[in-house]
Amino acid sequence: MVDIDALLADALAQIDAAADLATLEEVRIATVGRSAPLPLALRDVGTLPPEERGEAGKNLNIARQQLEVRLAEREAELESAALADKLANDRIDVTLPGRAMPHGGLHVLTQTRREIEQIFLDMGYAIAEGPEVETEFNNFTALNIPEDHPAKADSDTLWVSDGVLLRTHTSPVQVRAMQSQEPPVAIICPGRVYRRDTQDATHSPIFHQVEGLLIDEGVTLAHLKGTLDHLTKRLFGADREIRLRSGFFPFTEPSIEVDVSWGDGWMEILGAGMVDPNVLEHVGYDSEKYTGFAFGVGIERVAMLRHGIPDIRMLYDNDVRFLAQFPA
Ligand code: DAH
Repeated sequence: MVDIDALLADALAQIDAAADLATLEEVRIATVGRSAPLPLALRDVGTLPPEERGEAGKNLNIARQQLEVRLAEREAELESAALADKLANDRIDVTLPGRAMPHGGLHVLTQTRREIEQIFLDMGYAIAEGPEVETEFNNFTALNIPEDHPAKADSDTLWVSDGVLLRTHTSPVQVRAMQSQEPPVAIICPGRVYRRDTQDATHSPIFHQVEGLLIDEGVTLAHLKGTLDHLTKRLFGADREIRLRSGFFPFTEPSIEVDVSWGDGWMEILGAGMVDPNVLEHVGYDSEKYTGFAFGVGIERVAMLRHGIPDIRMLYDNDVRFLAQFPA
C-alpha cells in the first residue's frame, strides 16, 4: 500500500509551488490525472485484502478530495493574480498630455474666396456659378468683344472645339445670370479661369477670379465706387483708399482700373466699369431702363497682396510648410 500522507504532502507542495496556470495544469495531470500515483492506488484498492479495502479506499478518497479542493483554490489564486497583472500592465494614464493629431485646413485661396464671398453676401448679393467649358458666344460675343479681338487668338485662349473654349474670365457668368433672370441682379461669380500663359512668378495658365454684377434701375458709377471702397476696406483694412483710373474693357463703358493705397503708392487690384449697353441688349435687357456695374478681381492677386506672397506658384505647389502659414 502506498504512503498516502507522503503522496498527499508531495502533491500539495507541487500545487502550492505552481507559479502560473499552465504549470498548475501540468501539476493537475501529475497529481489527480488518470496515471497519477493517487488515482492509480485508488484503482488498485480492489487488490488489497478485503479487511483493508474500506479504510484504504476512504483515505485515498479524502486525499483526492483535498487535492481537488487545493487545485481549485490555487487556480482561483493564479487567475486573480493574472487579472491583477493584466490590469496593472494595460493601465493607461489618462492624465498624460495628448498627442496632437495633424490636421488639414482650408487653402489660402479658398479662404480668400470665401472672404470675398462673405463680403458680398453681407450686402445681399447671391453667388452664381457657371461652367469652365464655355461657348465663344458667352465668353466673347455677348460681352461685346469684337470678332478680331486678340484675346480670342489661339495664342491666348484654350479652345476645346469650334465655338467652345475654356473660359478666359468669369465674365460669361454675367451673361448666363442675366439670360436666366430679370433685373434686379446682384451676383458674384467665383471660379477658375484659363489662359494660354506660361507660368512665372505672376502668371499661371489656370487661376481664379470673382466676377461681380449689379443691374437695376438707377445704378451709377457712384454705387460702383462705394461698393469697391467697401470691398477693399474689408479686405485690406479700414485705412485703405481706392483710386479709379480710366481703363478699357469691351464689356464696360466707362471702364475703370482700380488701385488700392499701398504704403506711399498704389497697387492695381481689379478692373471694373458700367456694363456696356450692348451687353444688356445682347441678353434682352432694356438698356434705356436698366444700368449696372461689373467688376472682376483675381483671387490669387488679392491673396498675394494681403499676405505678401511673392510668387503665384507657391499657391499651387501644396508645400505644407507654405500652406501651414495660413491657418483658417
Ligand atoms: N474680365 C476681365 C478680365 O478677365 C476682368 C473684368 C474687368 C471684369 C472689368 C469685369 C469688368 O466685369 O467690368 O480681365
